[in-house]
Amino acid sequence: MNVDFVEMTKGEYDSWYRSAVKHTAADLVRAGNADEEHALESISKQFNEALPKGLDTPEQYVRSIVDASTGQKVGVIWYGTARGRPPDLLFLSELWVKEEFRGKGYGTTSLALLEEKARQLGKARIGLHVFGHNLRAQKLYQSAGYVATNISMAKNLQSWHGAKGERRTERALPEV
Ligand SMILES: CC(C)(COP(=O)(O)OP(=O)(O)OC[C@H]1O[C@@H](n2cnc3c(N)ncnc32)[C@H](O)[C@@H]1OP(=O)(O)O)[C@@H](O)C(=O)NCCC(=O)NCCS
Repeated sequence: MNVDFVEMTKGEYDSWYRSAVKHTAADLVRAGNADEEHALESISKQFNEALPKGLDTPEQYVRSIVDASTGQKVGVIWYGTARGRPPDLLFLSELWVKEEFRGKGYGTTSLALLEEKARQLGKARIGLHVFGHNLRAQKLYQSAGYVATNISMAKNLQSWHGAKGERRTERALPEV
C-alpha cells in the first residue's frame, strides 16, 4: 500500500480544524488535564497559535492522506516545525485516519511517508504527543520505532475505594 499527502481545499481544512479542536478538547478532558468548560478554549488557543494563517502557515503542513492506488481520502496528517523545540525536530501534531479505514495499515504507511518528508526537510527526528488513554495510537507509534521521551502520570483517587489492602473496584486508567 502507498499513500500520498495531498494539499487540502479551504473547505476540507475548515471542517478538519473544527473536528480536530473538538476531539482534542475531549481527549484533554478525558486525560484529566482540563474541565469541559476550559478545554475547548485552551485547545482553540493552541490551534490558533500553531496555525495562525491556516493552510498558509509557514512550516506547517496540514494534508489529506490519500490512498495512492484508489485516490480515496483516508485521513489527515499535520506536521511541521514546533515552536520552542529543537530545529532538527519535526513535530507530528495530528494523525487521523477515518474510522472506516482504520486497522488497514494507513497509519503505519503514513508514518513511513512522514519519515521521508522529515528527511527532505532536513530533520533528524520526529516528535509527537500521545494521550495516555490512547493505547491504539501508542501501539502504532511503538511498532513504528518511536520511544517515550516524557511520561506524565496521575492517580485518580476517586477510582480507588477503601483503605490499604482492599480490592480495586475500578480501573485507574480508562481503556480505549
Ligand atoms: C491511531 C490511528 C491513526 C491508527 O491508524 P490505523 O490506520 O488504524 O493504523 P494501522 O492500521 O497502521 O495499525 C497500526 C497499529 O495500530 C494497532 N491497531 C490497529 N487496529 C487496531 C484495533 N482495532 N484496535 C487496537 N489496536 C489496533 C495495531 O497495533 C497496529 O499495528 P499492527 O498492525 O502491527 O498490529 C487511528 O486509529 C486514528 O486515527 N485514531 C484516532 C485519532 C488518533 O488517535 N490519532 C493519534 C493521535 S496521537
